[in-house]
Amino acid sequence: MSALANLTSRVHDRTARIGVIGLGYVGLAVACALAEAGFRVTGVELRADRVEKIRAGDCPIDGIEPGLPDLVKKVVASKHLDATTQYAALADVDVVLICVDTPVARDRRPRFEALRSTCWQLGPVLKEGALVIVESTVAPGTTMGLVAPQLAKHSNKELNKGFFLGHCPERVMPGRLLKNLRELSRVCGGSTPEAAHAMVALYRTIVEGELDETDCITAELTKTAENTYRDVNIAFANQLGLICEAVGADFERVRGFVNKSPGRNVLWAGAGVGGHCIPKDPWLLVHGVPGVDTGLIAAARTLNESMPLHVARLVEQALDEVNIGMHSARLLVLGYSYLEDSDDTRNSPSQSLIEHLKDWGAEVVVHDPWVPEYAVDLWKRAEGAHAAIVMVAHAEYRDLDLARLRGCLRAPVLVDGRQVVDAAAARAAGFVFRGLGRA
Ligand SMILES: NC(=O)c1ccc[n+]([C@@H]2O[C@H](COP(=O)([O-])OP(=O)(O)OC[C@H]3O[C@@H](n4cnc5c(N)ncnc54)[C@H](O)[C@@H]3O)[C@@H](O)[C@H]2O)c1
Repeated sequence: MSALANLTSRVHDRTARIGVIGLGYVGLAVACALAEAGFRVTGVELRADRVEKIRAGDCPIDGIEPGLPDLVKKVVASKHLDATTQYAALADVDVVLICVDTPVARDRRPRFEALRSTCWQLGPVLKEGALVIVESTVAPGTTMGLVAPQLAKHSNKELNKGFFLGHCPERVMPGRLLKNLRELSRVCGGSTPEAAHAMVALYRTIVEGELDETDCITAELTKTAENTYRDVNIAFANQLGLICEAVGADFERVRGFVNKSPGRNVLWAGAGVGGHCIPKDPWLLVHGVPGVDTGLIAAARTLNESMPLHVARLVEQALDEVNIGMHSARLLVLGYSYLEDSDDTRNSPSQSLIEHLKDWGAEVVVHDPWVPEYAVDLWKRAEGAHAAIVMVAHAEYRDLDLARLRGCLRAPVLVDGRQVVDAAAARAAGFVFRGLGRA
């Protein structure tokens, strides 16, 4: 029996041992799902505080994450999931999932330090015949061009003989980690068709959606393209929102009418795109592509990056209307995570807005119910501010008590970057109101 056929049969009877490297949003969810499916899973994580929490049965992710805290508790208690900072614990695992972060630098080039460091630490302990699956999102060509040679070098094993490789990008998102993991389809790219086949056997134990077999580069392109597609579509909505504002029309109405046309689905305009993935995956997609003008993707990214600055300008205009200069204003930013009802602050558009406002001389205070640093009493935080700026559509901001907010603020200025405030109600409550894409 070949090594992969043997592995597949051990997947079927759940005796295959699994390792997961990086226990963040992606790694923790998949480690727990596999542990629940009956595998013994060992998670290796750089951050000792995260490891300690998991070993104590506590979920290290805050925000609303349905099912995950209970599942962490359950699989740790049943000893199906263990966590450590030590790669030596991976010496007898048959399948290793790499789920480390893959950011881009300020110059928009990929930073694969975590991926490289994973390879040199995993290599020396890699079991003969193991299957290594990169779940992290990577630039096309990275799995076979970087991970394969690095692992071969550090393990002293030959690809497709001593170890096998694959890329199976994740489709989770904060707030829906387990749901997306279980329900959405996945692409399984293998270093050989047999490796892809073995990957399908593994993911079938946790995924209800379709599982497609392919090669690594197709899987890499699929993931980076799907996030780029979203970024470009958001950029279109943002561009339309800016046009509506400039000509005195209401984006929400225009969008509603456009979407009655068959096949049209304009997204919402917003104050910026954050998170670990969408702001960087377009740069991963275009990285190192020879001889192709990728200007459309770059233009969309640049427009989306400029949205917090646009919100800052709306704030400036509204303050101007009540004769308050930016340099003497105290401003309340509502929301700091990048997504509603999540604690994830990576690439937060609020951070970018705050930098602009501070550069222009304003004092800025922040409230966010999900980010520990800013999870203070909303009304106390609002006291004495000249303006409130809604940057995240947290449930708590969706039906704000506008009269109470008006009573707390020192000046009646409200700016909405997420189309969650009813403009007429805000004006009726006495606010000078500005909203993204609002007439
Ligand atoms: N967050 C999402 O919703 C999402 C969705 C789809 C794909 N992805 C992709 O999945 C990957 C991981 O994303 P994430 O959101 O889980 O990131 P994360 O930052 O939450 O988790 C990564 C974890 O890896 C750990 N780590 C880094 N280097 C390590 C090393 N050498 N050894 C052991 N642990 C190490 C970090 O400490 C961190 O806890 C990225 O490539 C991302 O683009 C993320």
